[in-house]
Amino acid sequence: TGNLDPDTSLEIMKVLEAKFVKQFINLCFEVYHKGWHERNGGNLSYRIKKEEVESIKENFTYQEEREIGTIVKDLSNEYFLVTGSGCYLMNVKEYPEENICIIKVNEDGTKYQICWGLKNGGKPTSELPSHLMNLEAIKRRSINEKRIVYHMHATNVIALTFVLPLNSEIFTRELWEMATECPVVFPRGIGVIPWMVPGGKDIAIATSKMIEKYDAVIWAHHGMFVTGSTFDETFGLADTIEKSAEILVKVISMKGVFSKEQTISRENFIHLAKDFNLTLNEDVLKICK
Ligand code: 13P
Ligand code: ZN
Repeated sequence: TGNLDPDTSLEIMKVLEAKFVKQFINLCFEVYHKGWHERNGGNLSYRIKKEEVESIKENFTYQEEREIGTIVKDLSNEYFLVTGSGCYLMNVKEYPEENICIIKVNEDGTKYQICWGLKNGGKPTSELPSHLMNLEAIKRRSINEKRIVYHMHATNVIALTFVLPLNSEIFTRELWEMATECPVVFPRGIGVIPWMVPGGKDIAIATSKMIEKYDAVIWAHHGMFVTGSTFDETFGLADTIEKSAEILVKVISMKGVFSKEQTISRENFIHLAKDFNLTLNEDVLKICK
């Protein structure tokens, strides 16, 4: 550190010294300990800001172009920090350069080049189409400058996809009811898509359509995608949803599906929205008890 680029007067630093890289690595470490990342399960991506690219690009060496497997025209020439395919999130903190990489998307949004990381070889996550299409959808919507997409195999969320109807409104209502903070943390609700083959363009299209409308998207019998503008917020959203799913699993274990003695009612949610100045998903409110 301390070196200045003579052209831009920006500080030149090693990739691992950049704050966003440290935060990215830290998230991988924290979430591994939540138990959501058995083996190589789950992945993370971050759309790097221009000034952040400038500060580290001296370290880049560009590999050959490879197909993304979908088109992300609105991400043309942008850079992303992503986890590697087959990499275990538990190893990211100890060996970041072997388990994560920076990629650049080409001009027409169809190919990428690795320019840093994965030093023993490998590819970005197999869910790259979903990550990039979600990041593109968020960029188009430009809500809060969200730049992070995170996929995890959250145990209780997955369990619920076997017993609740795969309906976004019902899922959201059931999870909102489990803790008063839930509608505050995910007022737009949670989208649910039925089981699909992971790792490709079709599931990426389905997920990115949902991420425009909802705060998170559940993949039935697989896991969940969330987005955020900071690493803390992204982790916090996943953690809140999974915690409410855990409470619901406990309630169902005691009482069976849809047989609660009492719950947070539509009237309660409307009151909460008024006092907390929330815009709650109307379709969900309509079916609340
Ligand atoms: P990757 O190891 O390719 O990231 O795949 C893990 C995963 O969770 C697939 O859905
Ligand atoms: Zn997965």
